[in-house]
Amino acid sequence: MHDALELVYPSLDHADGYLAARAEGFRDSSSGSDSAQISRDTLADHLARLQQPGRPLALADGTVEDPVPFGHLWLVSGSHFIGRVGVRYHLNRALRRSGGHVGYEIRPSMQRQGFGHAALALGRAHLATHGTKTILVTCADGNLGSRRIIEAAGGCLEDLIDAPDGSGQRIRRYWFGPRVPEQFWPGLSIPVALHTSVKLNP
Ligand SMILES: CC(C)(COP(=O)(O)OP(=O)(O)OC[C@H]1O[C@@H](n2cnc3c(N)ncnc32)[C@H](O)[C@@H]1OP(=O)(O)O)[C@@H](O)C(=O)NCCC(=O)NCCS
Repeated sequence: MHDALELVYPSLDHADGYLAARAEGFRDSSSGSDSAQISRDTLADHLARLQQPGRPLALADGTVEDPVPFGHLWLVSGSHFIGRVGVRYHLNRALRRSGGHVGYEIRPSMQRQGFGHAALALGRAHLATHGTKTILVTCADGNLGSRRIIEAAGGCLEDLIDAPDGSGQRIRRYWFGPRVPEQFWPGLSIPVALHTSVKLNP
């Protein structure tokens, strides 16, 4: 894999790699809501749904959180599909507690090769180019891979909280200050030119 890593909007250009990743168990959502069997015939509809704004979220105290502007991006290298990076350009109250600005997932066959580090670095760089430099990233306390990624990048642990979904999990909340991410992992290069045509969902 010699092409630079980059974040792109989901498109049929990466259909082969994306369908292969799904066959490995990769999903476009960590919420479990993306369990559908996607075929080449239904892929275009699926990709369109990925960019639709979320639904308002009712909290336990009766308040309702509006969806926030977000970008659903894929991490690719040339024709290789590697994973996804979700970015939120603003946070509502629920996301400020848990969820944060950036989420990432690497397809199973490409894990443990440094791409998780790259996903967070590129997500931060993407947000920085759109004016968001103070960034919250959260992960489950037991997610050792994600913890290593966030801590290696200099995330500052604010606290540990109980997961709002009542699962009993503990969530670690890290902040990044207004610094452009540096290249800190060997063997990979962050592309200089990121895709800059951000479409903010209403
Ligand atoms: C977490 C995840 C993104 C890591 O991706 P990855 O490409 O394997 O990560 P990297 O190869 O960049 O590895 C990052 C570090 O974590 C370590 N690591 C990765 N997976 C690990 C695991 N399961 N257990 C312990 N350490 C792990 C690596 O050894 C590496 O450590 P090092 O930098 O000190 O050498 C990936 O496992 C994944 O997609 N998980 C499911 C979704 C998820 O949990 N997303 C994060 C939500 S906050």
